[in-house]
Amino acid sequence: MVKRAGGALLQSITIDRTSSRAIGAQLSSALRDLILGGALKAGERLPATRTLANDLGIARATVIDTFEQLTSEGLLQSRTGAGTFVSQALSMERPIGPVGDARVTTVKQVHVARLMSAATSRFVHRLPHLPRAFTTAMPAFDAFPMAQWARIAAKHWRSPRYGVLGYGEVQGYRPLRQAIAAHLRANRGIACDWQQIFVVAGAQQAFQMVASTLIDPGDRIWFENPGAMGARNSFILYGAELVPVPVDGDGLVVARGLELAPAFRAAFVTPSHQQPLGSKMSLERRFALLQAATAASAWIVEDDWDGEFCFVGRPLPTLKGIDSTGRVIYVGTFSKSLFPSLRLGFLLAPPALVPMFETALEAFSPGVPTSLQAIVSDFIDEGLFATHIRRMRKLYAEKYQILFDAGRQQLSDWLDIQPTSTGLHTIGLLRGGLVGAEVSAAAAARGLTVAPISRFCITPVDVEGLVLGFSGVSPRQITSGVAALAEVLAECAARGAPVRRRARA
Ligand SMILES: Cc1ncc(COP(=O)(O)O)c(C=O)c1O
Repeated sequence: MVKRAGGALLQSITIDRTSSRAIGAQLSSALRDLILGGALKAGERLPATRTLANDLGIARATVIDTFEQLTSEGLLQSRTGAGTFVSQALSMERPIGPVGDARVTTVKQVHVARLMSAATSRFVHRLPHLPRAFTTAMPAFDAFPMAQWARIAAKHWRSPRYGVLGYGEVQGYRPLRQAIAAHLRANRGIACDWQQIFVVAGAQQAFQMVASTLIDPGDRIWFENPGAMGARNSFILYGAELVPVPVDGDGLVVARGLELAPAFRAAFVTPSHQQPLGSKMSLERRFALLQAATAASAWIVEDDWDGEFCFVGRPLPTLKGIDSTGRVIYVGTFSKSLFPSLRLGFLLAPPALVPMFETALEAFSPGVPTSLQAIVSDFIDEGLFATHIRRMRKLYAEKYQILFDAGRQQLSDWLDIQPTSTGLHTIGLLRGGLVGAEVSAAAAARGLTVAPISRFCITPVDVEGLVLGFSGVSPRQITSGVAALAEVLAECAARGAPVRRRARA
């Protein structure tokens, strides 16, 4: 005789009428749990839909729908005239227990997980990008020309459907590649063809592409110390051995790099605005770096992440702009010039690398959304991009001045705010033995984001300081942030300054 699932089953099903979850969804998940958890066995007959509906006080149509759904999932079988049964497939040997993911408690650590959890891990996570003083690398969202963006987006979605909805070209939307090449020629002094441009999901994907295609495990990479965290993570991921090369007011100290690792596979630099110290790489250093890379047959990755925002004088030429070696891979991002949720950046490859990047993208990357690329492309072509950059340069110069003036007035007992002429942040050097990490933690408790320079370091450097973003928040937030930071610094100083470690660069 077929066993019938009766009272016990019904008692274990409860319907919560106050829940926002539909009654049908509650019933099907309760039945699914009973079946997969083994409480209802293969072949057991379920109550008639009318009975179950009456007993639970719900509509019969809901029960019928639920039975149909579980039948289509293969958990129930209905036999005409006989009723609805738990499927025979449930008699197969299988793990039985609570339904859900909780049973997996240990994860075998393979390559990446081992790298991330190793005691020596150098992966770093970023501080939260909250709209508060002094979050770094955040554009002024309130000044973004949203209406013009929306107009172009609407126009794009009305264009022919094949272009809008189909798979795009993996190297990037051609009009955008052409627009970027034209922009680089006109504004960054770089002679290039659009075929050398690859549109990627932010600078971060460009770094991964470079590291995955050009770096063998164990290859030595000159890396600015302190330096950019995202790029650093990409190189570590692909097994590079990072060589921390110090940075001074002229940028990467090439002579020290040559002492540390004359044979290097690549150098990563931020010459227009060193991340985080803010120096601009001098022309002499640029030539020295090109010379060293040529001698070592090495690549140079130039990350021009916020070089557009030079608000005093003319920007120095890019490294790519003076590259006669074909060794510079130039990376740009729209995260600062437009907004970071776009996840759009680009890589300008030297001609020798174009075929390899084309193949790598064909093989491993499905490309980035055409719709966003098309909007950015029109935004550039209509001149809105250039106008926006010009406006932001002015706005960021004003915000910087507010930070600089307030900081010099109120913080100078503890923090020496450094002048800058470019970008979205500046740094302050701590005085009196104050330690950046400690100040940063105390500031976080007061609702301020100040990254210590030490977060950017591969090996400790002989500088203690804070990175202070000014672009993304209002002048009022900057001034109140400075006042709050003054209190934080005074408290840290009063607590007694820990002795700072000294480090050999
Ligand atoms: C040094 C550096 N490069 C590039 C980027 C941009 O990265 P993405 O384009 O992936 O947003 C950032 C973001 O803050 C950065 O700090």
